[in-house]
Amino acid sequence: MKNTTNPGGHARRGNASDQRPHCVHHVHLPMNLLRQLGSAAAITAVLLTAGNANALDVQRARELATQNACLGCHSVTSRMVGPSYQEVGEKYKGMDPVKLAARIKSGGSGHWGALEMPPQTALSDADARLLAEWVLAGSPEK
Ligand code: HEC
Repeated sequence: MKNTTNPGGHARRGNASDQRPHCVHHVHLPMNLLRQLGSAAAITAVLLTAGNANALDVQRARELATQNACLGCHSVTSRMVGPSYQEVGEKYKGMDPVKLAARIKSGGSGHWGALEMPPQTALSDADARLLAEWVLAGSPEK
C-alpha cells in the first residue's frame, strides 16, 4: 500500500525520504517569511493609505479636465476664455471645495468678466468636487 501511495516513481530514487522533509522545510520557511512580509506590506499599505487619505488624485483630476473640455476654455497658467486655474485657486484659497464644485457644475458669469461658463451637466458631483479640489490646490501637475 505505501509503495503505491508514494508519488509515481520518486521512491525508487532512494533519496525520496530525505528529500521530502527537506522540501517541506523549504516550502514552509518561505511561506512563513512571505506571511510576515505580507503582513508588513499590508501594514505599510494601510499606513500609506491612512497618510494619504486626503491626498488629491491629481492624475484623475487632469484626466477629467481634459475629458470634460475644461482645458478648451481654461489653462492652468494663463487666461483663455475663462480664468487660469491658478488665479481661480488663488482667489478662492480656503474655499470649501463643495462650494466651488457647485459653481463648476452650474457655470455662470460675472466673477471674472462678461464671458459665461456653460453649466457642466455631464459632470458628476464627485468629479466636480475633485476638479474643485485640484483647482483650489493650485492645479498641481502631479
Ligand atoms: C466654454 C468655455 C468653458 C468651459 C468648457 C469651462 N469653463 Fe470654467 N469658466 C469659463 C468662464 C468664461 C469662466 C468665468 C465665469 C465668470 O466670470 O463667472 C469660468 C469659470 C470657472 C471657474 C471659477 C468659477 C467662479 O465661480 O469663479 C472654475 C473653477 C471653472 N471655470 C472650472 C471649470 C471646469 C472644472 C471645467 C470643466 C468641467 C470648466 N470650467 C469648463 C469658461 C469655461
